[in-house]
Amino acid sequence: MNKVLIAYATYSGNTKEAAELLAHKLGSAGCPAELHRIGTVPVPDLSGFDALVVGSFTWAEGSVPEEVKDFILDVGYKPPRVFVFGTGDTQFGGDGLFCRAAVKLARFYESTLPPLKIEQSPRGGQETLVQEWAAEVAGAMRKAPVRRRVPQDQADRPQTGRHFCTGQPQSTGVPASKT
Ligand SMILES: Cc1cc2nc3c(=O)[nH]c(=O)nc-3n(C[C@H](O)[C@H](O)[C@H](O)COP(=O)(O)O)c2cc1C
Repeated sequence: MNKVLIAYATYSGNTKEAAELLAHKLGSAGCPAELHRIGTVPVPDLSGFDALVVGSFTWAEGSVPEEVKDFILDVGYKPPRVFVFGTGDTQFGGDGLFCRAAVKLARFYESTLPPLKIEQSPRGGQETLVQEWAAEVAGAMRKAPVRRRVPQDQADRPQTGRHFCTGQPQSTGVPASKT
């Protein structure tokens, strides 16, 4: 079964709404999803899931929220299959900064799908975007199943999780100018 954990961070509810809608759409596409609100309870055991979906709003000038950086560090390694969505607002810096946190996270996790970007609430016209993206996630999971595992060594640990997201040059191989 293609079981998915959707871990999301939210302040005012848009990302929660998107996460709930996505969970519903993924379930309909044959990928049952469990929701985890970042920062409320300990991170679930990821070995029980076939994919991790991370949802984040974007903060000041394109930043990844601190609680999402903490989540990355709590997880402690890069799971083999991660998909990312975000909510944002184009009024905060236009297209360049729109959902920039989701873009950074997708790059960090080397996601095979472009991040889903939602302008504030997914209600209304953007529901279709969520539906289409859920279908892409389900398709990607069917095409390339991965074996569930938790790394035994440090090799997969993103020792740079926080640094990547703050744009400080570290060993991610991604130039700071691009973060
Ligand atoms: C202080 C502040 C800064 C923000 N900066 C950005 C930004 O740089 N890029 C962006 O796309 N959205 C930005 N936003 C908009 C939020 O990301 C957007 O409203 C998001 O949907 C909030 O998610 P939530 O309701 O789940 O908390 C900003 C919002 C606030 C309050």
